[in-house]
Amino acid sequence: MSTEDKATETAKRRWNRTAGFYDYMMAFMERVRLRKYRRLLWSRVESSRVLEIGVGTGQNFPYYPADAEITAVDFSEKMLERAKNRASRQEVEVDLRQMDVQNLEFEDNTFDTVAATLVFCSVPDPVRGIREVERVCKPGGKVILLENDFSSIPILGWFVKLANPLAVRMIGADFNRHPVDNVPKSGLAVERVTNLGRGLWKLIEARKKTPSS
Ligand SMILES: C[S@@+](CC[C@H](N)C(=O)[O-])C[C@H]1O[C@@H](n2cnc3c(N)ncnc32)[C@H](O)[C@@H]1O
Repeated sequence: MSTEDKATETAKRRWNRTAGFYDYMMAFMERVRLRKYRRLLWSRVESSRVLEIGVGTGQNFPYYPADAEITAVDFSEKMLERAKNRASRQEVEVDLRQMDVQNLEFEDNTFDTVAATLVFCSVPDPVRGIREVERVCKPGGKVILLENDFSSIPILGWFVKLANPLAVRMIGADFNRHPVDNVPKSGLAVERVTNLGRGLWKLIEARKKTPSS
């Protein structure tokens, strides 16, 4: 097994373990902030064929656009199990599949929009993952990501740097990433970055270039 595959297996194992308490861990943040940000992100999705990366337990389901045909992937089977249960409870139509964003099994140029919330802080090679997102998005299609960025508040950034090794080991998320820098490295054109919650979250909107752009 290559070093990259080992890192992905370790990350997957951590997310399988986190699946059992993820919704409880996020409940407070969900209520005070994330619901609002999720609604904003999904209001900016351009239908009709949409891919959600790192669906987790399905926290975005209530915000999916009614007219969209949605496929959602996650590499953690335990997260997917929870997403499947939530989809049937909430009667959400979504095609759920187990897949690693670093190796998507879709054809090039398949989706009008690719969306992800709080995902690329956990992907072992985020640039490779975003390159895959770029590949499966149609030319001119939209990519929209909600990501943490703790560096925007220096004291908190310093604290997070200290606590980060624990966060990586315990829940599988690396909060020392700089998501805004990774998007252009994938070849996508960044159109807008919206600072949310004093910049602790970034809503990044990007577009896949067309042959003429
Ligand atoms: C912080 S959770 C976010 C879940 C959900 N998007 C949300 O907003 O609640 C990160 C999710 O990304 C998934 N993930 C991490 N690395 C991944 C990868 N390489 N491929 C697919 N999913 C991945 C994890 O399994 C987990 O479900």
